[in-house]
Amino acid sequence: MTADLLAWLNLGVRWLHVIAGIAWIGSSFYFMWLDARLKADETTPPGVQGDLWAVHGGGFYHKRKYLSAPPDMPEDLHWFKWEAYTTWLSGSALLILIYYLGAPTYLIDPAKADLAPWQAIAIGVGALVAGWAIYDGLCRSPLGQRLKLFGAVWFLTLTAAAWGLSHVFSNRGAFIHLGAIIGTVMVANVFMVIIPNQRKIVAALLAGETPDPALGKRGKMRSVHNNYMTLPVLFLMVSSHYPMVIDHPLNWLLVAGIGASGWTIRHFFNLRNASRSEPMVLVSGVAIFLAVMLLALATKPKAAVVASVVPFSEVQTLIRTHCVACHSAHPTSAIFAAAPNGVAYDTPAEIRRYAPRIYERAVATDSMPMGNETGMTRTERDRLGAWVKAGAK
Ligand code: HEC
Repeated sequence: MTADLLAWLNLGVRWLHVIAGIAWIGSSFYFMWLDARLKADETTPPGVQGDLWAVHGGGFYHKRKYLSAPPDMPEDLHWFKWEAYTTWLSGSALLILIYYLGAPTYLIDPAKADLAPWQAIAIGVGALVAGWAIYDGLCRSPLGQRLKLFGAVWFLTLTAAAWGLSHVFSNRGAFIHLGAIIGTVMVANVFMVIIPNQRKIVAALLAGETPDPALGKRGKMRSVHNNYMTLPVLFLMVSSHYPMVIDHPLNWLLVAGIGASGWTIRHFFNLRNASRSEPMVLVSGVAIFLAVMLLALATKPKAAVVASVVPFSEVQTLIRTHCVACHSAHPTSAIFAAAPNGVAYDTPAEIRRYAPRIYERAVATDSMPMGNETGMTRTERDRLGAWVKAGAK
């Protein structure tokens, strides 16, 4: 019953998270595009950055960006902040529900660090706080003024975090935390810098004063950073679906490469929106992705060669010992109410049918058994692998 309720709670919160995330990223992409496309000419009044016409949904839109006070401050001013806050709140709830309540299964990998749940949670929360402190410190330092150099330093910092986290947490736990670090930075940018600065600007304008232009500039800088971080963070959020990346021995490097390709592809679109078409930037983004793929394939670990024939009875014992607590029509594991992904190994036919996927997750990688609470060994994995290689008879 508890497992059933948790599964529904998980679904409800995840749905909210996806909806809020799409709303947030949608408006963020739209405003980046709008800013880049605004045009000014001799008829543009002073204090206006530019205008833009667009057609959508059967009507025409006329947008204008004011840098100083509009002649009359509108009563109904839209702020765009709850999308970001809802995304973060629901994301944090998911992190707690899945990774913190289920720490032994989802977060802790005793082969890397045999942490108690509270220790793992403290490291996870500490990483989120440290991520923001380092990022914000870098932004406020002189480095913050040099966009490209800042980008390089922040990218290397995140790559180091990927390496470090992947050495203390389970792979999925490590990369969800990396995504959460970036997501937290993005939301904190909205909450701690962009929105407070906008409030100060509006207050100054209402008081008939000239707002400090640095306020707007700082907000814009954080908003540009957020834009570049969007695509990498989206990949990290779905990364647990890609064991060939996150369970690879070079996972931190592969993830850094995929992040760099997302960053580069975003850069292409930002340039294009500003009417600077540079197809080579897009080609580079795709090339980085392909390089990551080739590197992953070339360095994919192979199962050891096992000389003796592995009988099916031994395979059944292995699967019963290490897998069936979860992968069964009636799981005995307390945290699953149904077979994960609908994959059960209750019968010989099921075990044989899923043999190639068993190989991918329990032999070629250590991604299963999830959490490895039964302590499956490398030798056992290689025996399982030998059976699959011999035709899964
Ligand atoms: C503690 C519970 C648990 C145990 C034990 C466990 N798994 Fe899983 N398994 C999961 C969950 C949850 C998923 C779905 C998430 C995912 O794909 O990573 C999953 C997914 C899988 C998949 C992917 C299914 C698909 O969609 O193709 C395979 C293959 C798999 N497990 C194999 C195994 C094997 C083999 C073992 C035993 C050596 C095992 N699992 C033990 C929880 C478990």
